[in-house]
Amino acid sequence: MYGDDIASVLISEDQIAAKVEELAELVAKRYPADAPEGDLLLVGVLKGAIFFMTDLAKKLTVPTQMEFMAVSSYGSSTSSSGVVRIMKDLDKDIAGRNVLIVEDIIDSGLTLSWLLRNLSSRNPASLEVVTLLRKPDALRTQVDVMAVGFDIPNEFVVGYGLDYAERYRDLPYIGTLDPKVYGGE
Ligand code: XMP
Ligand code: MG
Repeated sequence: MYGDDIASVLISEDQIAAKVEELAELVAKRYPADAPEGDLLLVGVLKGAIFFMTDLAKKLTVPTQMEFMAVSSYGSSTSSSGVVRIMKDLDKDIAGRNVLIVEDIIDSGLTLSWLLRNLSSRNPASLEVVTLLRKPDALRTQVDVMAVGFDIPNEFVVGYGLDYAERYRDLPYIGTLDPKVYGGE
């Protein structure tokens, strides 16, 4: 539906679905359903993580609650600077809660490491990260994550929540963008 903007399908809809089930099992094992800290609190990072967050929540066999945060990292449209601004903060206090950050993608890791510092200063009982994608070759800072869906090559990807200039989020798969779209060729 986007003509030939998508150069290739990197991860299909079926592969994503299977991975989400796997990750849900792994996450559920870490959090008892009757934890004294109450329901697991999923913190989704808008907007990229929305599809992953909702699909994961539906597959989790422990009760969860959902909060969202929107952050924007200064820099060009395809690379981040690590200087982060909160566009939308959490609605609730997370002190004493088991918090699981749900991320779409870890690229340089700068946004996430900032977010981890920010949220840990609010004294959650625990703070972990699950990310659907990670680009190991782009990492510029070490971040500890509980679970990773797919390690992918250092290419710009779109779909399943991920955008380029707000487009392509609605694709059900993850694909690489033809460089002509962002003026690469
Ligand atoms: P850093 O570099 O701080 O960046 O780990 C994380 C955020 O940058 C965005 N990002 C991407 N978005 N395709 C996208 O649509 C990509 O290939 C990509 N790489 C990074 C994303 O918002 C992520 O949370
Ligand atoms: Mg983005």
